[in-house]
Amino acid sequence: MSRSDALGPTLLAAVTRAARSVGTPFWLYEAEPMRERVRQLRAFDGIRFAQKANSNVHVLRMLRALNVLVDAVSLGEIERALRAGYEPGTEAHEVVFTADLIEEAALARVIELGIPVNCGSPDMLAQLGAVAPGHPVWLRLNPGFGHGHNRKTNTGGPSSKHGIWHEGLEDALRLVDAHRLNLVGLHMHIGSGADYEHLRRVSDSMLSAVRRLDRPIGAISAGGGLSVPYRAGEPEVDIEQYYAAWNETRLEVERTLGNEVRLEIEPGRYLTGNAGVLAARIRAVKKVAENHFVLLDAGFSELARPVLYGSHHDICFLTSAGASVAGPVCPIAVAGPLCEAGDVFTQHDGGVVTFRELPLPQVGDLAVVRDVGAYGATMSSNYNSRPLVPELMLDDGRLTVIRQRQSIEQLIELEVEGEPF
Ligand code: LLP
Repeated sequence: MSRSDALGPTLLAAVTRAARSVGTPFWLYEAEPMRERVRQLRAFDGIRFAQKANSNVHVLRMLRALNVLVDAVSLGEIERALRAGYEPGTEAHEVVFTADLIEEAALARVIELGIPVNCGSPDMLAQLGAVAPGHPVWLRLNPGFGHGHNRKTNTGGPSSKHGIWHEGLEDALRLVDAHRLNLVGLHMHIGSGADYEHLRRVSDSMLSAVRRLDRPIGAISAGGGLSVPYRAGEPEVDIEQYYAAWNETRLEVERTLGNEVRLEIEPGRYLTGNAGVLAARIRAVKKVAENHFVLLDAGFSELARPVLYGSHHDICFLTSAGASVAGPVCPIAVAGPLCEAGDVFTQHDGGVVTFRELPLPQVGDLAVVRDVGAYGATMSSNYNSRPLVPELMLDDGRLTVIRQRQSIEQLIELEVEGEPF
């Protein structure tokens, strides 16, 4: 299966309907493709959603109904998981907290709720152990190498801040023992956009780490990083191959330890990435030398991936009646409203503006930026004092707002002067 070129008719109709009733810009997610992604990963014993990709509580609630577990990386993400109905502190370990450091407030909360902590630094183990002996922990290991769709999404190797360096495993185990922590499992996540060659290397590293353990563990986690197609024709990850490689590792781990071992996977992008669009209104169309700039009412304050990583997102234009804009194509850059030259959706890594051959739209038409269901809304900001925009869910023909538009009042209201101290 590969990603198709055209937007489906249901999505097209939903975008135009939503543009009329809630105004632009907005995020629109589709529930069914998310459910389909969950079905594709069923072979794993545990699918743990890395909610940093899309942490809307309604998305989390829908995934929980499918028995998807959740990962939290901050106190805010823990509270979101609770709001969505996740039950921490049970045998099922529905919520795990993963980080390289733990702040005081999060530390208190994971202890209170009995949330297992996936520790990415020895200091984290020591700080947790000092106040909560016996607490369940995972060790997140940096196997010594990594891989990412961009340098900024590579989370392994000597230049990465993530994980416990692989040579420090024995020291970490000593900390576990010193504080009588309960070691649940080993975890590796080497980056987003990992390929099969790295997959082989990371599963081999997992095995060699397990062989250095002097105790049994009940689980291993393959981390996330499954890529998704961002362009028409780009292939999907071969989940069978992915699972087969990890399952082989799991079986070898079980043979080494002599006990059963759960195999978890921790995807973010894979579950939601292709299931969301950002819809915006075209407010200006201008010619700059031989190039055309199409300016939208959404920019990198909404979708930051292009400016941060030079990420490609397909963009299509619709008339407000919902038809695809037709006509001869010309070189077009698509940009946003921010007072900043880098506020361009069509750019390569390093900020080089690119031009796409697209039919020229008119002011008032809609632009649909595709495949933004992961790391879209969660990475938005209030830059240029722009309020956060609504999120909508399309499920079985029903279109609902699942996050309201932030008001400018809400945006300013925290700026009250405190008492001097
Ligand atoms: N597990 C851990 C420990 C992670 O750090 C991450 C992502 C994931 C799982 C999920 O990775 P995924 O399956 O979504 O690739 N903002 C970037 C991605 C940063 C990912 C950070 N960690 C982007 O827009 O591409």
